Amino acid sequence: MYSIIQPIHSYLAFVALALLAAATINGIIGSSSEKTFEESHLKLNKFALIATHTMFLLGLILLFISPITQSAFADMKVAMKDSQLRQYAVEHPVINLIAVVLVTIGNARVKRAVGNGRKFKQTAIFFGLALVLILSRIPWSAWLG
Ligand code: HEM
Ligand code: HEM
Repeated sequence: MYSIIQPIHSYLAFVALALLAAATINGIIGSSSEKTFEESHLKLNKFALIATHTMFLLGLILLFISPITQSAFADMKVAMKDSQLRQYAVEHPVINLIAVVLVTIGNARVKRAVGNGRKFKQTAIFFGLALVLILSRIPWSAWLG
């Protein structure tokens, strides 16, 4: 199970980050122009949401089956003092959960917002903040190393 879920969570991360970045850039560019917020922009947000929700589901499974988190949970007192274990078992999951919630709230708010400018701005704020949070807690050396 771990040998299947771990690589999917690892590779889908590229897709999720790319979609979140695309949605954020779209929101930033749209906020400072007279562009119309189209169906395609809504779709981009939705694809970013689906990718992050899928990452969350996979991550939640990993939290229970990963040997790294298992060893962290075996002795939390030690894990909290080890920056790498704390990153995997605590910071990455908690911060990413917040990011997923922001994407979900953002997606709903953009749909409800009235006016093109507001829709772009909400997209930029919620998807952008989620992206920054996720980037801040990626185990870079393990991922790209
Ligand atoms: C543990 C896993 C998951 C949890 C806890 C979760 C939770 C949620 C929540 C709370 C919402 C908001 C519902 C609302 O609008 O009131 C939502 C919406 C949604 N989720 Fe997930 N989700 C999970 C996994 C997934 C997966 C795996 C996918 C797709 C492959 C997915 C796709 C969607 C879509 C398409 C929406 C609708 C967004 C919209 O309203 O436009 N979710 N989810
Ligand atoms: C969009 C959100 C997320 C992104 C982009 C992301 C990305 C990543 C990346 C790049 C890695 C390193 C993979 C590797 O070393 O090859 C990783 C590992 C991990 N992630 Fe996530 N993640 C996300 C959300 C989550 C969530 C919400 C959880 C938990 C609830 C989670 C749990 C884990 C765990 C436990 C590992 C370590 C797995 C292992 O190597 O044994 N992730 N994540």
